[in-house]
Amino acid sequence: MPKIIPVPVFDCVVFGATGDLTLRKLLPALYYRFRDGQVQEDSRIIGAARSDLDDHVFRQRAEQALQHHVPAKDLDADLLQRFLGMLHYVRLDATDPDGDWPALSERLDAERVRVFYLATSPDLYGPVCRNLGKVGLVTDQSRVVLEKPIGHDLASARKILRDVGEVFTEAQTFRIDHYLGKETVQNLMVLRFANTIFERLWNSDVIDHVQITVAETVGLEGRAGYYDHAGQLRDMVQNHMLQLLCLIAMEPPVSLDADRVRDEKLKVLRALKPIAPHEVASLTVRGQYAPGAIDGKPVPGYHADLGDGDASTTETFVALKAEVNTWRWANVPFYLRTGKRLPQKVSEIVVQFRPAPFAVFPPESADWQPNRLIIRLQPEEGMRVGMMTKDPGPGGLRLSPTGLDIRFEKTFGTRFPDAYERLLMDTVRGNPTLFMRHDEVEAAWCWVEPILDAWAARPDHPRPYPAGSWGPTAAIALIERDGRTWHEELG
Ligand code: BG6
Repeated sequence: MPKIIPVPVFDCVVFGATGDLTLRKLLPALYYRFRDGQVQEDSRIIGAARSDLDDHVFRQRAEQALQHHVPAKDLDADLLQRFLGMLHYVRLDATDPDGDWPALSERLDAERVRVFYLATSPDLYGPVCRNLGKVGLVTDQSRVVLEKPIGHDLASARKILRDVGEVFTEAQTFRIDHYLGKETVQNLMVLRFANTIFERLWNSDVIDHVQITVAETVGLEGRAGYYDHAGQLRDMVQNHMLQLLCLIAMEPPVSLDADRVRDEKLKVLRALKPIAPHEVASLTVRGQYAPGAIDGKPVPGYHADLGDGDASTTETFVALKAEVNTWRWANVPFYLRTGKRLPQKVSEIVVQFRPAPFAVFPPESADWQPNRLIIRLQPEEGMRVGMMTKDPGPGGLRLSPTGLDIRFEKTFGTRFPDAYERLLMDTVRGNPTLFMRHDEVEAAWCWVEPILDAWAARPDHPRPYPAGSWGPTAAIALIERDGRTWHEELG
């Protein structure tokens, strides 16, 4: 077990304290960090929301949530009670400058690191920050944490960035993309820059294309209001998928300093070739799930999940072909696909290498597979290099596709901490490396917005796909037109 260094004692105010994110992700993450000795017991977690609760009821809710979201083997009764003792509650409408701010102020210690976590809808980021500034709660040691999505489009994102920026400096602002907190996503930089074997091959001479898949079996999960307004491109591509693309495509940073890493990611975002309106039909596919089945169980379609039978045209699936206009990546397409209600939950990056320039072995000696580096981000985290190998024994020269496999669970035999654990500790420590800088957010919107606009202007709607399938057949055509196929060894 590595030595765990405690973070400074802090006060963390969570706005939106009764919401799903707080109960499902933030409190379990803080509990684990407390259990492992990283969060000190003097720290305070102060929930703030409009509901009429008190400390006692908030602690009860938190206890239920922890029992639900933390496996019983990890919940020690004594530790749990001590953790609940760190929780407090303030009833506050944070959008109201005349709200009960003094009640919050009383619970805060002027000397401590102060984290304001905005687990609220993004349109409240500006007003809440303005009020925090107005009532004088922002100290030098304060940070603000904003959840994605930052805005609904470029203009609203810029407004939020500006409003928040009037109260908090860039160094105090932590914009979460929780994919960056995943261990396997952090490992992408290690894979590339701590090893030499791949980096020398990491260019268009050797790499044929890259595929990034983020598939989920879940549908709306009680978030219909937010999701139907956002859709899959805003919810998953503008942030998580583009961040993954950046980590694959970026140049080596000159150091691990937060800004040097983010400079390199920004260059990739800025090098993304814009998709022009007339290219949208051939370079992107949007889908929406229809009734189907997952794991043998019937699943309703998107409209039924929405509940009002409305003819929503929100996309729940996106596939697209992106290109990075740099010397390293010229003519290497990046195929991205992501969707809800797909057959399995899996996030995976496939880097496919070019075929051998000349065939020494007779074509009939094998079921030829290209070399692929397959990086499994979740679940069953690991890496595989697909290779051709000689079948042993007589019977003619026979080759088979096999692989070099690393399964992280087997290799390390340890729990993979949830992304929020690392990210919350980084906010307290004040390390923004794994957070999006304002210019990254803007650059990602700049690339995504024309696609949204072109979709909105088109007469066609998202193509239906049965729940439990890999999306509309047009997504298969998107890649097959280029003589390539989606990697299908998922599972
Ligand atoms: C969130 C999206 O950012 O990521 C959700 O808003 C999505 O729609 C979730 O379900 C997926 O995260 P993970 O960590 O389960 O892959």
